Parts: sequence; structure tokens; C-alpha cells
Amino acid sequence: MKSAVVVGSLNLDYSIALQRMPQPGETIAADSLTLNPGGKGANQAYALGRLGCQTAMIGAVGRDGAGDTLIRNLQSAGVDCSGVLRREEPTGQAFITVDKQGENSIIILHGANYTLTPADIEEKRALIEAADCLVMQLEVPMETVLAAAKLARAAGKTVVLDPAPAPGPLPEELLRLCDFIKPNETELSLLTGMPAGSREECEAAAKTLLQKGVGTVLVSLGAKGALAVTPHGSVLMPPPKVKAVDSTSAGDCFTAAFVSHWDGGLEPALRYANAAAAIAVSRRGAQASIPSAAEVEDFIQ
Ligand code: RIB
Repeated sequence: MKSAVVVGSLNLDYSIALQRMPQPGETIAADSLTLNPGGKGANQAYALGRLGCQTAMIGAVGRDGAGDTLIRNLQSAGVDCSGVLRREEPTGQAFITVDKQGENSIIILHGANYTLTPADIEEKRALIEAADCLVMQLEVPMETVLAAAKLARAAGKTVVLDPAPAPGPLPEELLRLCDFIKPNETELSLLTGMPAGSREECEAAAKTLLQKGVGTVLVSLGAKGALAVTPHGSVLMPPPKVKAVDSTSAGDCFTAAFVSHWDGGLEPALRYANAAAAIAVSRRGAQASIPSAAEVEDFIQ
């Protein structure tokens, strides 16, 4: 896809590296603390920009230094930030722990992200109308996500939703508007109330989303790769092998890379998205880990 607009969150990430996650009630020492530009929406926009897609971002940050940093970082990837609004609430924050295996857990403080309203989407509708594709996640209010999806669908745009953090079942009205939805296994299980441990279980759960009107379900399976489920069948794409250092933003990078490479062929887009996400997993940080188009091409070679 040549151009995209992202509606979603921007967070300053406080990322703590540690050997292992603490048990409840336990105190442990960390190896390091780093502050990185993050937020699922901003990560997607940054990745789209780095991967050569003309990209705009619609979101909200505070009138603070974190907001300045996040906007500057998106602009460094060529992202149009004219849709990023400044608010009195502080910029969103994420507190992330990453263990020795690269697994993470994340706690977010929504801050300004939750001030993004359907009226803001209306105000910035020209950015949606100018793009081929709308990309979203669920770190801004659901009513705002719905408003953006309706506007994009009415304008004939492709609608892509990364349903993270998954709140449980999604409004059927939203599912009907999604051309692509990209849950991981845990999110797929939360969205459908069905198990999603094996390929067969993922396919059965994904089919219930197809029945509700989703075009294609892309299930990211971490070290097992990605599974695409369509009304005509499914494709499992194994990932390249890399040493996992930090999985933060790998899902955001996967979604963006898939969109940037989507021209109707599932296998090439999945292969490209797997490669981009594998590079992201092998580096620390959220936007800091996201590769450029040249790096992905080299890696695939
Ligand atoms: O998907 C990773 C992102 O989730 C982090 O950058 C953090 O900000 C949270 O939004």
C-alpha cells in the first residue's frame, strides 16, 4: 500500500531490562532503564514511514517534553504529524519490563491518548480521505476507533485493526468494518472466547471473526510465525530465526510491514512482515528497534 494514516496512541516508554519477571510481593534489581518513543499507534506510524509508506498520524499528546520527543521521532521517519493534537493531559506513558528471553509485560497510563474523540477524527478527516489505508489499535477510546473506521470505510479505504490491548469481544459493528484484523493468540482467544493454542484452534476462532464480517484474520504467533485466515483458506508463514532480545513493538512492526507490502498477495506480505518483526525482536526498544526498508530487504536476501 502506498499511503496510510494511523489513528492511535503515542506513549513515552519506560523500559526496564531484567533477568526475570518478579513474583508477586518480590523485590528484584533491574539491569537497566531506558526511555524510548513508543505507543502502539506511533510505533505503527513510525514503522510505516521507515518502510517507505507515505504516512500520517492522528492522535493526542500533552503539552510536555514527552509529546515533543514523540512528534520529533515520528517526523524523523517522514510521518506527517499535522493530525497529532496537543492537550492539557500529560502524554501517555508505558511501563515495560523485558526479561532475558525478550518477553515483555506492559502497563499503560492513557493520559492524552484517551482525549481523542470522534470530533477530532471528523476534524482530521482529510488525512483519512487522502490515504489508501487506515491502521488502528485499541489504546484510544473505542468510540473514536469506530468513528475512524466508519469514515474510512465510507471513503473506500482499507481498514486494518490491531486489536491490542484486547478488551474481550469487540463491537460487531467494528468487526464488519475491518478488512484485516491482526490479533496475537492471546488476543484472538480474548476476542472470541475460544482457545487459540494450536493452528486448528486459531483457525476455528478466526473463522468466527470472518463470520462477523472481518475480511482476513492475521494471527501473529511469535516464534511460530504468522497465520492468515481468509474465507478461502489459510496460510501459515514460519518466521526467520533470530535471537529474541525484546519483543516490544514487534506486533506493531508486523502490522505496519504487512500494510506497507500489501498488494493483494498474502504470502509476500506475510514474509515481509515476519522479516521486519524478526529484526524488531532482535533489538531493544519500541520505535528504536524498527528497521528501515533497506534493512528488511538485506535481511530477506
Ligand atoms: O506494542 C508496544 C507498545 O505498547 C509500547 O511501545 C507501549 O507504549 C504500549 O503502547
